[in-house]
Amino acid sequence: MTRVPTAAPTTTPTTALAAAPATASDPHRPRCHFTAQKNWINDPNGLIWHQGEYHLFFQYNPYGDQWGHMSWGHAVSPDLLHWTELPVAIAEDERVSIYSGSVVSDRHNRSGFGTAENPPLVAIYTGCLRVPEGGQAQELAYSLDRGRTWTQYARNPVLTAPVKDFRDPKVFWHAATERWVMAVVLPDARKAQFHASTDLKTWTLLSEFEAPFEGQGIWECPDLLRLPVAGGADAAEAAPWCFKVDVFGGHPSGGTGARLFFGHFDGTRFVAEPEAAPQWADFGADFYAALSWSDVPQPDPDDPAPQRAVWLAWMNCHRYAKHLPTSPWRGAMSLPRELQARRVADGRWQLLQRPLPALAGLRGPVRTVAAHTLRDQVRDILLPGSDADAQPDGPVVDPVDGHALDIELAITASTASRCGLRLRVGADEATVVGYDAALGVVFVDRSRSGFLPPGDALYAQRHDVAVPAPSADLPLRWRVLLDACLLEVFIGDGEAVISEQIFPAASSSGLQLFADNGSAAFSDLRLWALRAASPR
Ligand code: FRU
Repeated sequence: MTRVPTAAPTTTPTTALAAAPATASDPHRPRCHFTAQKNWINDPNGLIWHQGEYHLFFQYNPYGDQWGHMSWGHAVSPDLLHWTELPVAIAEDERVSIYSGSVVSDRHNRSGFGTAENPPLVAIYTGCLRVPEGGQAQELAYSLDRGRTWTQYARNPVLTAPVKDFRDPKVFWHAATERWVMAVVLPDARKAQFHASTDLKTWTLLSEFEAPFEGQGIWECPDLLRLPVAGGADAAEAAPWCFKVDVFGGHPSGGTGARLFFGHFDGTRFVAEPEAAPQWADFGADFYAALSWSDVPQPDPDDPAPQRAVWLAWMNCHRYAKHLPTSPWRGAMSLPRELQARRVADGRWQLLQRPLPALAGLRGPVRTVAAHTLRDQVRDILLPGSDADAQPDGPVVDPVDGHALDIELAITASTASRCGLRLRVGADEATVVGYDAALGVVFVDRSRSGFLPPGDALYAQRHDVAVPAPSADLPLRWRVLLDACLLEVFIGDGEAVISEQIFPAASSSGLQLFADNGSAAFSDLRLWALRAASPR
């Protein structure tokens, strides 16, 4: 059931925002997710908390809205939600483009780039030669003013390989061996390397990590981090290490995605635990190049076990990013996600990802919908457009702006072949977040979500993740975050996420519950309009 809206939705007035909310001329601009004011962005880079600020550097083209002239853009935030965009931090020069990498706080000035009183932040990134085109090596730049200005090291590069492609260094301090460790990839060989250094300038190869069973696509953007164990201090198990690498093929969506390996890193070598099936950070098509924040403040800084880990990703896919209908910006980051690991019944580690608790601060007033069962029915929750659309028997809550919503929902039973939510509903458009009982999967279907990138047969497909059948004892719980063109569906405790971009018409702002071919019992439905996260 769809409905033709009679009135265009109103939009939140623009204030001085790093990420200005959607307007009539910029209808897809997210409110709570980071976007640059203008131009192309891709991977998050150099994520670090330093002196009260979270830094978000990112792959950025200062000159246009297509990939190119890669430089590091920059934004800062006190809380990971309210971002202020700053000038370009590290710019492409005649010699190299500035590809992805990381930033560390060199507290004891081991690099010598600063002083004992003013130790440096050091960026370790891939310099990609402009002439001749394409040789890649790891390079350094440093900042003595809280990341505002950067100086490239005169003796770059600091780490080379005998191949053309060699990139995306993620560096962290390994306390037990008292040295820096770098994870970096040889993309075409589908291999990661670990290198060590005590001064960030001289690096020694420690080991390599390959996963021969993972046969498809180049590797990019490694991360190696220790995850807090769900359950906290009482958890019997030591915090596991997680190695993440983005791959260009083999992801369930048919495209690119972030592959996870759990195991142990002893300071030299990463050994993955055996696994029954490949693990993925996200089951949608648009979660790539995830990177974790360094130096995230820990509730108990004396406890050597990690208690908090946070990452975000580029919410996009290289295959079609260049075609997407946004202007003057192109590309967005996912919301930052809190990370934990837990052991599950089959003995493997599972990644849990949840939105930041502070996101609740951006919610408007709550709207609740009483528990009820639908049988071969569609129920309007929000109508597209304004009150003028309201029918005598609906909608069940007052219309709010259905462009940016935080929705919680539980399904306690389903005999329906499919049931769930239809978002951004409008004339001939709806994005479906559903449970498919025959296949036992949660899915997002964006085949009727508006704009489709030209020539991309994979884009409009449904993306699934297997879940246990819902019951009253074990309801299927969703937290759905919709923010203009971005949709993140967190399932259960965060054991699976589906992240997708959608580009419906601005007038498509309806929200419905549905049950096809049978009945479905819904409970705990609460929704909130999300306000724009203006800079602080
Ligand atoms: C991943 C990636 C990285 C590279 C950067 C260049 O999206 O291809 O491997 O460093 O983007 O922009």
